[in-house]
Amino acid sequence: MEPLNQRSTTPLERVVSQRALQMSNSFTCQICVVALFCGLCIVSLILAILGNFQFAHFSMLNLSFNSDLNTTITHCSFKPKQIERLTDLKSDQDERVSLLYSAWSCVLTEPTTERSKCLWKLGISESNLPNAPHLENCKAKSLLHNRLDTRIVNDSFPPWTSRKGLLNMHPLAVSEGTHPPWIAGSDEENYPLTRKVQRDIWVHQHPSNCSDPNVKFLLADWERLPGFGIGAQIAGMCGLLAIAINEGRVLVTNFYNRADHDGCSGPSRSSWNCYFFAETSVECRQRALELVKIEDALSKGILTTKENYTSKHIWAGPTPRIWGDPWNYLQPTTDINGSLVASHRKMDRRWWRAQAVRYLMRFPTEYTCNLLNEERHAAFGKMAAKMVLKSLIGEWPKVNSPLIFLFGIED
Ligand SMILES: *[C@@H]1O[C@H](CO)[C@@H](O)[C@H](O)[C@H]1NC(C)=O
Ligand SMILES: *[C@@H]1O[C@H](CO)[C@@H](O)[C@H](O)[C@H]1NC(C)=O
Ligand SMILES: *[C@@H]1O[C@H](CO)[C@@H](O)[C@H](O)[C@H]1NC(C)=O
Ligand SMILES: *[C@@H]1O[C@H](CO)[C@@H](O)[C@H](O)[C@H]1NC(C)=O
Ligand SMILES: *[C@@H]1O[C@H](CO)[C@@H](O)[C@H](O)[C@H]1NC(C)=O
Ligand SMILES: *[C@@H]1O[C@H](CO)[C@@H](O)[C@H](O)[C@H]1NC(C)=O
Repeated sequence: MEPLNQRSTTPLERVVSQRALQMSNSFTCQICVVALFCGLCIVSLILAILGNFQFAHFSMLNLSFNSDLNTTITHCSFKPKQIERLTDLKSDQDERVSLLYSAWSCVLTEPTTERSKCLWKLGISESNLPNAPHLENCKAKSLLHNRLDTRIVNDSFPPWTSRKGLLNMHPLAVSEGTHPPWIAGSDEENYPLTRKVQRDIWVHQHPSNCSDPNVKFLLADWERLPGFGIGAQIAGMCGLLAIAINEGRVLVTNFYNRADHDGCSGPSRSSWNCYFFAETSVECRQRALELVKIEDALSKGILTTKENYTSKHIWAGPTPRIWGDPWNYLQPTTDINGSLVASHRKMDRRWWRAQAVRYLMRFPTEYTCNLLNEERHAAFGKMAAKMVLKSLIGEWPKVNSPLIFLFGIED
């Protein structure tokens, strides 16, 4: 079926009518030819029958293509070989790749009004634009993450677990839902105890009532000495998270110099929360910032700050032991002189830093997601455009057929 990979610039109708004339003039077969030309015979037949012009997934297309197409072709007494091989001009192909790439660049433009204008200038309508497989829907993603990161009022469970009342009704949801959604894969695919530890850190950092006088805090700025790279800053914060957990305090991070720029606007300015979801809830942050103004809070030990700890304490990383010594079960990953070392004295620190970083970076913000989209687009956009155009069924963007827009690739 390789001729289908090659796009023609000849008007669709001409080829179709030629072929249709040579064939039975039944309506079904005419549709079949149109669709065949688009590589979608069976799918469109189904759609035509159902009169239901909704989504057809690419995978569906793939399946029907290999199994059912032959039958339909035979039925319509039409052989794919008969399709004229209409050669592409290379420059035309390049032009389409650039056009698709530019159109996707428009999609990355904010605000939405600018986006439409940008697409309009290219002569492309958004509904006719194939999905970009390398771009994420950042708005939808961050809405979802927001929901997964917000406690349900009065609920003692994290938001991704089944609530008590529902346990009996949805027994299956329990095992599926109890794990933190930012951890992909099973326990075997992650560092030992990762899912339990991530869940416990989240619960620790999100007490259900931050105003409860029993909730204590550790409020700390990120390191900002000029010599500190981002890795050192994160390593320092991992140490502080370890201290906070050991002392039963909620860690609240404050000034973050790398977010002190206009890209991080509003309350996210100079905050870790510009790039990633905050380490704690809004309520706990507010509470900690209130407490810092109350003199008693420090002397009574409800609040501590970085000044309460020596830098040695912070950097030595007193790995929490509440989960035992899970690092003893780590697969060897340390390579010294070409051989893997199964055990060494910093295993615990490595394990803990991995946990802390995983937690602090559990959900990127919409801002980070957009930055990543832009970077991916710059790095892979052209490649993605080429691939999409290759697998795209039918003309793009010239022929404004509903079939073509329906079968834009979804991912
Ligand atoms: C498409 O079909 C081919 C051949 O049957 C198969 O190898 C491939 O995995 C399929 N792709 C998808 C996305 O289903
Ligand atoms: C498709 O049809 C042709 C001719 O009718 C036949 O020779 C060929 O084996 C068929 N292929 C498949 C995969 O069924
Ligand atoms: C939460 O609990 C408090 C105290 O038990 C109660 O007054 C309040 O109505 C509850 N809120 C919701 C939304 O259930
Ligand atoms: C949280 O704790 C404070 C102090 O004990 C209390 O006044 C407040 O009602 C609590 N809020 C909820 C929602 O239980
Ligand atoms: C933290 O430091 C403050 C001020 O130096 C001090 O009053 C307080 O007791 C310290 N807290 C702890 C838990 O050591
Ligand atoms: C690594 O191997 C080289 C050559 O085999 C040796 O000279 C060196 O001392 C080794 N280093 C360590 C840290 O074992």
